[in-house]
Amino acid sequence: MTKHFANSRRQVLLGLQALAGLTTLTALGQFRLGWGTTMAQATRNLPKTRETSLGIRADAKGLLYGAAGRYRHLSSDAAYAAAFVQQCSILVPENELKWQALRPAPDQFDFQQADWLANFARAHDLKFRGHTLLWHIGMPKWFKTTVNRQNAEQFLREHITTVVSRYAGTMHSWDVVNEAINPGDGRADGLRNTAWLKFLGPDYIDLAFRLAAAADPQALLVYNDFGLDYDTAEEEARRVATLKLLERLKSQGTPIHALGIQAHLLFGGDATSFNVSKLRSFLKAVADLGLKILITELDVKDQQLPSDISERDDLVAKAYEDYLTTVLSEPAVSAVLTWGLSDCYTWLTSYRPRQDGAPARPLPLDAQLQRKPAWYAMAQAFDQAPQRPTPRI
Ligand code: XIL
Repeated sequence: MTKHFANSRRQVLLGLQALAGLTTLTALGQFRLGWGTTMAQATRNLPKTRETSLGIRADAKGLLYGAAGRYRHLSSDAAYAAAFVQQCSILVPENELKWQALRPAPDQFDFQQADWLANFARAHDLKFRGHTLLWHIGMPKWFKTTVNRQNAEQFLREHITTVVSRYAGTMHSWDVVNEAINPGDGRADGLRNTAWLKFLGPDYIDLAFRLAAAADPQALLVYNDFGLDYDTAEEEARRVATLKLLERLKSQGTPIHALGIQAHLLFGGDATSFNVSKLRSFLKAVADLGLKILITELDVKDQQLPSDISERDDLVAKAYEDYLTTVLSEPAVSAVLTWGLSDCYTWLTSYRPRQDGAPARPLPLDAQLQRKPAWYAMAQAFDQAPQRPTPRI
């Protein structure tokens, strides 16, 4: 589907909302925050006519914006689904393509929910991305008692070939391997001591990429990981190990095309210090290997932030602003996905509960699907991003 068509689809949606008095139809535009202007003030000052969706703003720069979504929410909450289609150009299933969801038993695949999401994406002209083929978490219970050194390669081959073939030709990208690095495990190569590593050795990563490439020669194949963002000894070690892995894969001809940076950000405190030049030089080193970079799971953990909602929202927005301004200055960054779209459905409410019991507010839309300061921070970052080369990836 052409870009023009995608834009007009969203403008129809926006137009319908305008008729309902919710928002006003749009032109692409820019706004700037002066120093000392809080995000909440900026939000109030922003002319309504500038409120084009995030997907359209990103698209204008040759970038992709989208989010993780779940079958349960997109199939049952029409207002949420409409907001998703309005804001996003790409959908990634939050859990439905993980082993736990796809593999009820060692000899069975259940694609029902993943297929529903693939059809939702197709019906609404959203790109679709796959998460994830190999991860040490999100595994079915039977895995531990069934998979061993003797049969591990067969399981890996069957899983990747079956799952990737099913969506071949329609997948934008696959997170082939997720979170394979953990310098804390003490190995010289920085790899995490997962079951796959134990059974197959470090070349399981190369094998996974080769199988994925054979099953879908078109999809962008991604290595995805977290903890690559901040200026701490731990994250520096993770960046070093990631570069080492990417260099090794590239030098041995593994069909890898991009690094996925999860970017679950954590605002506040020394332990989360943000160093613009270190992050930029890491991104540049990845780009110099000939790889694209996708920001795959962006959100801002707010569990340490004040209870006051407007204060908290401003700080979360500031984290989005700082981070996106930095990463979008690297031309190899071609897509940004948030891990969810609305605060009503975020993994952080249960995964990182706040002490005051208040719901987490990590995403661009609030629980009522209204735009938060974080939305405006993202909009501004997209508006100010350098134009990406065409064709878009
Ligand atoms: C999370 C989901 O959001 C949760 O719903 C699920 O219970 C656990 O997994 N990094 C990843 C994602 O790569 O797959 C994780 O998603 C969040 C952290």
